[in-house]
Amino acid sequence: MDRNRLACSGIVSIILSLGCGPAAAQANPAAGAEVSPPVKQQAHPGNDPGAQAYARNCAVCHGDEREGNLPGFPPLVGIRRRMNDDQLTTLIHAGKGRMPAFPQLQDGELSALMQYLGTAAPAVASASKGAQATGQAAAGEALFHQNCAFCHGRDAMGGETGPDLTQSKLVIGDKTGERIAQTIREGRVDPKMPAFNFSSEEVASLIAFIRWRIKAAAEHPGGRRGVSVADLQTGNAEKGKAYFNGAGGCAKCHSPTGDLAGIASRFQGLQLEQRMLYPRGARPKVTVTLPSGEKIAGTLAYEDEFVIGLRDAHGAYRSWRTDRVKYQIDDPAEAHVDQFPKYTDDDVHNLMAYLQTLK
Ligand code: HEC
Ligand code: HEC
Ligand code: HEC
Repeated sequence: MDRNRLACSGIVSIILSLGCGPAAAQANPAAGAEVSPPVKQQAHPGNDPGAQAYARNCAVCHGDEREGNLPGFPPLVGIRRRMNDDQLTTLIHAGKGRMPAFPQLQDGELSALMQYLGTAAPAVASASKGAQATGQAAAGEALFHQNCAFCHGRDAMGGETGPDLTQSKLVIGDKTGERIAQTIREGRVDPKMPAFNFSSEEVASLIAFIRWRIKAAAEHPGGRRGVSVADLQTGNAEKGKAYFNGAGGCAKCHSPTGDLAGIASRFQGLQLEQRMLYPRGARPKVTVTLPSGEKIAGTLAYEDEFVIGLRDAHGAYRSWRTDRVKYQIDDPAEAHVDQFPKYTDDDVHNLMAYLQTLK
């Protein structure tokens, strides 16, 4: 199988870095370092509403500094030179391909965002100083400490009775904040979380704080607690095996005696879970058909609206204008990205238990 690296997407790298605890870092320091996002901060997202809107809605895919995450997520630096206001507005409101629509971005927030997209990329990313919440997140911090910290911990990483919110699938998967807001407004019955009656600004600030905590936790993976390899061994290996061969569809591409033989000796604990959730070993393949009918196949190296690039079998980089050629991309690890929202926690635990038998 192709051993090149699959550039992980924005979302992927965030979630990956959440799983990048000390155990993973020790087992393979190089991989650990790669997985952690670079420690860098926006100039002052707290003061600039456009930068804030960007950080909230776009950074997860297009990168903190608009640097993108190729091949899946294009960089947005310099985008205003390529797209005018109307084109950008249409794209943001309607979405495109794997980019979701943001119909809620309107008026002032939208124009602030457009203005931010027009600014030059930061020349040198300043290293982040000790974690300090700013702006909305700082307002949320105070509310969180008064109302939520007792159960979820001051750092949102789990406390007396509440779960670690920086690891919650609900929280991480909730791009709009709707499900978090709903949990806050309605509470939970079993186990119990009270319902809270906050204004929508207060809810937004709480969400901003929780998200800021997720980021801070990702940037300081050593500070993470509460996830131990033991937690990953609570599953049922038999059920995991059944899921592997059945509902999970894993057997279509993998074999416990073939490519996954010995996987548990190569990766342990969190690192194994990361590999399972988001393998980064594979790069998408692309086949380009020239106007002459000639086909050229290779590993996807670059893709945007205008240019498609690949590395051919000799390692040479070749690219074409997308309006001149036809091309088809085949991302072998796409199945993993598609699977992520479908797993229940039990599925993940059971699969982990099963994979850990493949020594
Ligand atoms: C879930 C991931 C995701 C999020 C969040 C996201 N995008 Fe995108 N964006 C994409 C993908 C994928 C593409 C490439 C779409 C395509 O060409 O099929 C894209 C393309 C674009 C492009 C066109 C870039 C080019 O070079 O043609 C712009 C501009 C853009 N996004 C702006 C934004 C803005 C602004 C936001 C926040 C409001 C945002 N995106 C949020 C995934 C995302
Ligand atoms: C009395 C304890 C308690 C307090 C106070 C509390 N929570 Fe919770 N919260 C819980 C418990 C317990 C759960 C898990 C419920 C479950 O597993 O279904 C939870 C779940 C959540 C979830 C969903 C996580 C997930 O993965 O399902 C969010 C988001 C959340 N709380 C946010 C908050 C916020 C924000 C506050 C403060 C405004 C708060 N909670 C106050 C106990 C509490
Ligand atoms: C459509 C094909 C496909 C399906 C379905 C699929 N995978 Fe994968 N998987 C891949 C590819 C491609 C890789 C990257 C291989 C590499 O790193 O060389 C991969 C990598 C992995 C790895 C890491 C292997 C390593 O050596 O690093 C694990 C573990 C894994 N998959 C488990 C699963 C499980 C569990 C399922 C079912 C829930 C599943 N996969 C479903 C294609 C698939």
